[in-house]
Amino acid sequence: MTQDKSNAMWGGRFAAGPDAIMEAINASIGFDQRLASQDIRGSRAHAAMLANCGIISPNDAEAIREGLLTVLSEIEGGTFAFSTALEDIHMNVEARLKEIVGEPAGRLHTARSRNDQVATDFKLWVRDQIDAAINGIGALIEALLEQAEAGADWVMPGFTHLQTAQPVTWGHHMMAYVEMLGRDQSRLKDARARMNESPLGAAALAGTSFPIDRFQTATDLGFDRPAANSLDAVSDRDFALEFLSCASICAMHLSRFAEELVIWSSAQFRFVTLSDRFSTGSSIMPQKKNPDAAELIRAKIGRIFGANVALMTVMKGLPLAYSKDMQEDKEQVFDAADNLMLALAAMTGMVKDMSANIEPLEKAAASGFSTATDLADWLVRALNMPFRDAHHVTGTLVALAEGRGCDLPDLSLADMQGVHAEITEDVFTVLGVQNSVASRQSYGGTAPDQVRAQIKRWREALA
Ligand code: ARG
Repeated sequence: MTQDKSNAMWGGRFAAGPDAIMEAINASIGFDQRLASQDIRGSRAHAAMLANCGIISPNDAEAIREGLLTVLSEIEGGTFAFSTALEDIHMNVEARLKEIVGEPAGRLHTARSRNDQVATDFKLWVRDQIDAAINGIGALIEALLEQAEAGADWVMPGFTHLQTAQPVTWGHHMMAYVEMLGRDQSRLKDARARMNESPLGAAALAGTSFPIDRFQTATDLGFDRPAANSLDAVSDRDFALEFLSCASICAMHLSRFAEELVIWSSAQFRFVTLSDRFSTGSSIMPQKKNPDAAELIRAKIGRIFGANVALMTVMKGLPLAYSKDMQEDKEQVFDAADNLMLALAAMTGMVKDMSANIEPLEKAAASGFSTATDLADWLVRALNMPFRDAHHVTGTLVALAEGRGCDLPDLSLADMQGVHAEITEDVFTVLGVQNSVASRQSYGGTAPDQVRAQIKRWREALA
C-alpha cells in the first residue's frame, strides 16, 4: 500500500487508487469550485469555533485562518491548481492548506464531515442567489413601474383567449406583471427565511462527540440557528428545491411577458417597438428585426424548470442520510440561477428600452367590438334591463355591426332602436374606449386613477 496511489484524505483503508473512470464519475471539482468562497468561509467559522471550544489550540486556529485566506486569494487570483484526484472543492482547499500551513491543517476536519460541509457551502451559495434574484426582480419591477407611470392613460385592447375582450390601459397591463414579480420576491423571501438554519456541526450524520458550539458557527455564517436534527441537516436539499421552484415560477412569468412582447412587436400588432439593443437582424432578410432576447427569455423556463424536476428526481428515493447522488444537486442549480439572473437582466433592459406605440394601441383597443360590455352595462343602468337580456340585445347589435363591416359606435341611433326601441343617444357616451377604461373604477380595475393608486402603493412599499 502506498499513500500516493490511494487517496491522501481517506487512503488508510485503500490499497489502490481509483480507476480513471471512477475518478471521472466521482469528481465534482469541475463544477463545485464555484463554492470556493463559501467553503472557505465555512471552514474559517468552524476553525474559530473549534478554538473557542478548546478543541484546537488558538495557534492552530490562527494558522488555519491565515492559510485559508491565502488559499482564497490564490483561487480568486486564478493561480490555484485544482486537482481532479482531490475530488471536490473541500479536499482541494484542505490539501492546499496543508501545503501552506502544515500540521494544523489536519486538525480543521475535527468534528466535521464533508457531508455537513457541503450542505453548508451550498446553502450559503443558494442564499446569495436568493438575495441576487430578489434584487434582480426589484430592478425589473422598477422598470415596469416607469412604463406604467408613463402610460397610465394609454388604452390598449385587453384580451381573453387572445381575442379582443375589453379596453384596458397600458399602465394596468404593466402593473399586472409587477404583481406577479412581487409574489416572486415574496416567495423567495419565504424560502430564505425557512432555509436559514446551519447544517454545520451535524458532522457525517449523527453529530459529534466533541464539545462544539453549533450556535456560534450558525451566527458567524449569518444563519438564524443550527438545524435541529443532524440526519436531516446533511440530507436536506429542500433549500435548493425551493429556490428552483421559486425560480421556475418567476421564469414562467418572464416567459409569459416575453411571449406578449414577441406578439406585440410583430408587424401585425405593432403595439411596441423594441430597441435595437435588444433585437437582432436576419442574415438573409434585410427588413427583419427579431425579438431574440424575448424569445430566449421565453425559453429559459425550459432549463430552469428542468433543473427543478431533475433535482426532485435525484432526491426522491434517497434513504437518510447523505448519499453521493446528492453531488448531482449543484450543476442544475448553478445553471438555473445563472439563467434566471440573465433572463431578469435581459427583460429589465428590454422593458426600459421599449416604446409603446400609442396610436396602434388605441386603434386596436377600439376595434373588435371591445366596448360591447360597456353597451350591455349601459342597458342595465339606463333601462333597468336584466343583464342577461342586455347581453342578448348587445349581441344582436354586434351581429348587425359585423354584418355591415363597421364597429359599434358607427351604428346610427335608428339602427340601435331597430333592435331595442328604448335606446337613447346617451348610449354613444359609453362606446368610446377612453370612457370605457375611465369607468372601470372598481378596486384593482383598469381606470387610470386606479392604476395610479396601485403605482403609488408600490412606490411606497419599495421606498
Ligand atoms: N463532493 C461531495 C458532494 O458534492 C461532497 C460530500 C462528499 N461526502 C461523502 N461522504 N463522500 O456531495
